[in-house]
Amino acid sequence: MATSTRCSRRPPRGAPSAPLLSLVLVGIFLLGCSVPHALCYVRPPARANIAVSLAVTDINAPQQVHISMVGADKMRVSWITVASVSSTVYYGTSPGVYTSSASGSSSSYSFLTYTSGRINNVVIGPLLPSTIYYYRCSNATKEFSLKTPPGQLPIKFAVVGDLGQTGWTKTTLDHVAVSGYDVLLLPGDLSYADNVQSLWDSFGLLVEPLASQRPWMVTEGNHEIEKVSTIESFRAYNARWRMPYELSGSSSNLYYSFDAAGGAVHVIMLGSYTDFAVGTAQYNWLIGDLAKINRQTTPWVVALIHAPWYNTNYAHQNEGEPMRLAMEGLLYKARVDVVFAGHVHAYERFDRVNLKKQDKCGPVHITVGDGGNREGLASAYISPKPAISLFREASFGHGQFNVVNMTHARWTWHRNSNDISVVGDGVWLTSLFSTPGCF
Ligand SMILES: *[C@@H]1O[C@H](CO)[C@@H](O)[C@H](O)[C@H]1NC(C)=O
Ligand SMILES: *[C@@H]1O[C@H](CO)[C@@H](O)[C@H](O)[C@H]1NC(C)=O
Ligand SMILES: [Fe+2]
Repeated sequence: MATSTRCSRRPPRGAPSAPLLSLVLVGIFLLGCSVPHALCYVRPPARANIAVSLAVTDINAPQQVHISMVGADKMRVSWITVASVSSTVYYGTSPGVYTSSASGSSSSYSFLTYTSGRINNVVIGPLLPSTIYYYRCSNATKEFSLKTPPGQLPIKFAVVGDLGQTGWTKTTLDHVAVSGYDVLLLPGDLSYADNVQSLWDSFGLLVEPLASQRPWMVTEGNHEIEKVSTIESFRAYNARWRMPYELSGSSSNLYYSFDAAGGAVHVIMLGSYTDFAVGTAQYNWLIGDLAKINRQTTPWVVALIHAPWYNTNYAHQNEGEPMRLAMEGLLYKARVDVVFAGHVHAYERFDRVNLKKQDKCGPVHITVGDGGNREGLASAYISPKPAISLFREASFGHGQFNVVNMTHARWTWHRNSNDISVVGDGVWLTSLFSTPGCF
């Protein structure tokens, strides 16, 4: 049997090996991968939630530690404690030697019968780029470490949406952990708590080993909304995943932007589930944010949304259309290089596009809603494949966006081939700033 990376065949784990399934597998064996891609691929079933829990022996112990970038040289440390502790982080560049400290504040929220622990937020810095810092939260003895992102190119982003907290999520995280990434970009749908607030806690525990070491920059998906009776939307998300929105002039945690690699990359986090129509606060903020970019010093601009504007999967078909109609022209005129999306539980990469057509000065659209959540994969694609869709596959995995220099970036998509990470797709991207005729 010829092996093809585009057509990984795996025995679905834990699924009953029904005769029908064997027949399908034999059929695939005989046909090889000459059959259309979506037919050739055997979808692994969703894996169950792994429900990480913590036996709290110390009510002052930091849990669910995660960090996020705040401007060029600061980092927000967020953690939860059962008890009310002093929101202070002690840190330094040698283990156990804390030469600096910073204080912040804490809050908690309630949701029906649930009351969260104390959510502590402390901004530390100024910090040196590409430097490991050791830190502890409040008076707890446990030491964490983080590495600050580089202050110049190259920089490597891990990009993955729709994570959830299943066995597949764990596999994806294991692959991201060894990717050598500097900053994680998450285009929405984090915990899949779906109103069960303790699942936000188990998600926080699951991602802590990664998110306490590298900044995780997120924007919201539909699973973050959690609108129940009089509880406002995004209550848990906004309390737990505080992003540096005010620094980019945004007045909402649901959309913001930030610079990375000394300003060589500008990342715009858009909100698919807050108003985006012409004339709304987000729309006006986006106009202002794009106008501030100087492409001489910021050759790369990327944007993240949740519901994709370009999608040839039957799942969530056309859901991103109202936002595309409102905002695509702004991103196109500003020559945004790449738009990352989630929501569709699969991987798809498009050509450079605008107005649904190939356009050499338009952004590349990439869907990476394949983090591994409990809803499983979306495997039904519109056929035949439209020419603007260059690669599509319903597998779990993650992406890496390695911005090498002012003109070149390498994008790779890494499939979870069962529990092994295999590069399924890869392409060199040239910045629009260096593309003749686009500026
Ligand atoms: C941390 O502070 C709390 C409250 O002041 C105190 O009860 C606890 O013993 C302290 N723990 C350590 C390890 O110092
Ligand atoms: C940028 O990186 C690409 C890919 O590695 C390389 O071919 C090109 O020469 C680099 N450009 C500069 C100016 O270093
Ligand atoms: Fe979603």
